[in-house]
Amino acid sequence: MNQSQRSKKITVADILNYKNNEKIVCLTAYTYPVAKAIDGLCEIILVGDSLGMTIYGMKDTIDVSVEMMKNHGLAVMRAVEKSFVIVDIPANSFENSPKQALDTAKFLINETGCDAVKIETSKKQIEAIELLVKNNIPTVSHVGLLPQKVREIGGYKYQGRLPNQAQEIIEIAKMSEDAGAFACVIEAVPSNLADEISGLLKIPTIGIGASKNCDGQVLVIDDILGLNQEFTPKFVKKYEDIFNKITSAARAFSRDVKIGNFPQNSNLLEK
Ligand code: KIV
Repeated sequence: MNQSQRSKKITVADILNYKNNEKIVCLTAYTYPVAKAIDGLCEIILVGDSLGMTIYGMKDTIDVSVEMMKNHGLAVMRAVEKSFVIVDIPANSFENSPKQALDTAKFLINETGCDAVKIETSKKQIEAIELLVKNNIPTVSHVGLLPQKVREIGGYKYQGRLPNQAQEIIEIAKMSEDAGAFACVIEAVPSNLADEISGLLKIPTIGIGASKNCDGQVLVIDDILGLNQEFTPKFVKKYEDIFNKITSAARAFSRDVKIGNFPQNSNLLEK
């Protein structure tokens, strides 16, 4: 379905229906104008905690706060009419207990009006997913590389290369489905592992650095736009070079001001 055909808001039922029918497209967005530009072009807009790096210049996502997620979730929700919006539950706001996860998820849903939350999932978080779903909070699990754990695991490394690690990731994905998650993000694992999970789960899988056979794909918008000048992972495809376009526009404006070429009379009120 293309953007012009899509006249109504995407729902959880629509997303579940995409499995085995049509690929799910997901991009991150953190701000009003970007969300407005991509609304309806992707089934899902993710207000990812990757905003710690893309917006705030942090080294990782670990110090992203619930308040930051709320503010950006709200900005995105002001712009979006068609896409389904998911907000990430940030680190240090859910790990203590399922009740803490529920409080954070309720806060994000109530304050932003977003459609669902995503939680980085290890076996410890399965009960939290169960509790969220019991409280009617649509929840997405996230398995494989968990960016909120990069300090523990020593960097952004592919996960599930060893058979016991792969088995653990399969189990977590399946347990998250059984707990009621309606979709599962699979990040940075070998293709055959992502394929196995996608085949096993009835809910859609959304891959990032995982496999082309996942039910959908997600990328960070700054990466596809060429805004990210730091490390670019192998799984990113850059579609634009916005960083250099910004630099060129700023250089042209600066030159115009210096030589008195801006403002022109047409930019000013005559009287
Ligand atoms: O925070 C984020 O942007 C994410 C995606 C990379 C899946 O979790």
